[in-house]
Amino acid sequence: MQVALKIWRFNSSTGERALRDYEIDAPDEATLLDCLDIVKDEHDGTLAYRKSCRMMICGSCGMRMDGAAVLACKTRMYDIAQEGKIPVISAMGNLPIVKDLVVDMEPFWDKFKAIKPYLQPGYERPEDGKEYHIPQQRMNVIHKEALCINCGCCVSECNAMESDPEFLGPQALAKGMRFVGDPRDAAKVERLEELSEEHGIWECTRCFFCNERCPKGVDPRDAIAKIGAESIKEGIDRDIGAKHAKWFIRSSETTGWLRETELVPKSQGVVSSIKQMKFALNLIKHNKAGLAFPPHVAANVGEARALHKLVHAQGKLGYEGHVQGEQAHEKLSHGYDDSRDPYGPGSFPRPYLPEEKA
Ligand code: SF4
Ligand code: SF4
Ligand code: FES
Repeated sequence: MQVALKIWRFNSSTGERALRDYEIDAPDEATLLDCLDIVKDEHDGTLAYRKSCRMMICGSCGMRMDGAAVLACKTRMYDIAQEGKIPVISAMGNLPIVKDLVVDMEPFWDKFKAIKPYLQPGYERPEDGKEYHIPQQRMNVIHKEALCINCGCCVSECNAMESDPEFLGPQALAKGMRFVGDPRDAAKVERLEELSEEHGIWECTRCFFCNERCPKGVDPRDAIAKIGAESIKEGIDRDIGAKHAKWFIRSSETTGWLRETELVPKSQGVVSSIKQMKFALNLIKHNKAGLAFPPHVAANVGEARALHKLVHAQGKLGYEGHVQGEQAHEKLSHGYDDSRDPYGPGSFPRPYLPEEKA
């Protein structure tokens, strides 16, 4: 097949930047990485990019295609070429470019190291001196986070990192959850404290681009939500973001709606809210906010309240609630049949279905 590509070339020593066109002959099964190899071997040996495994496991070949991060070795070119599209290939975002498609991964690794990506000692060892067995149900909590290959595609697309380069970012936070949820780690609460500090979980804007672009299904935004839920469960809720999240829960439970008028005082405190009175009055004047008193209650608020009761009754607060939600989604997508539960019928939590009144 004929493949046409546009590649952003960059030379960090001269600052020279140029969009170059390439047209190559490639086998039908070629990936983007194969195409770059052909460009380098047959057309322009000066092109720089990273690669190693060519099988989606080393995480070296992250780059952007048409502005969105991809693993080059996972991206088939056949359909793109057949449609006559000419994709634009560029280096990943949020990391300094060294040359062409190669970025400096040092800031990425600094954040990775900052979350202490190794087990903190101190857990109870089995009395028989043998290995520590962890039940599969327990490992399910961190199954997705353990799939991360450190490719940086999520970091490339993170808009919170664009506004605050110090933000720990989706990869480091997903790795943080991998250890927060590991029953052998003896520093869960200390980790939650650190991950809840400035530049931590509450700086995430919930844009979900990291979930969208991760090539391994890690879903870093979900990992951040799990850390947030577990922090609140442990009483680590000093940050405005935590207070904000708690008010969402409280107002949805009581009215089935977000009680926005009370959101600012509940999140930021009364003193800070009074300072923003002028802004609030302006919003009201322009019909952008209203004072609803008594608060409007949704018609089916009983369902929201029943769900809250169920979560508490089952002890599914913190990350366990998220994991149950993930499993329920899977079951709803693929049909519910508890005879297929791996540890016997009912060994996985039954999904909550809205029509069932608790
Ligand atoms: S959801 Fe949060 S961590 Fe993920 S890309 Fe958006 S801002 Fe970054
Ligand atoms: S979370 Fe996904 S996108 Fe981010 S570094 Fe890990 S594998 Fe790559
Ligand atoms: S070359 Fe290893 S993930 Fe693409």
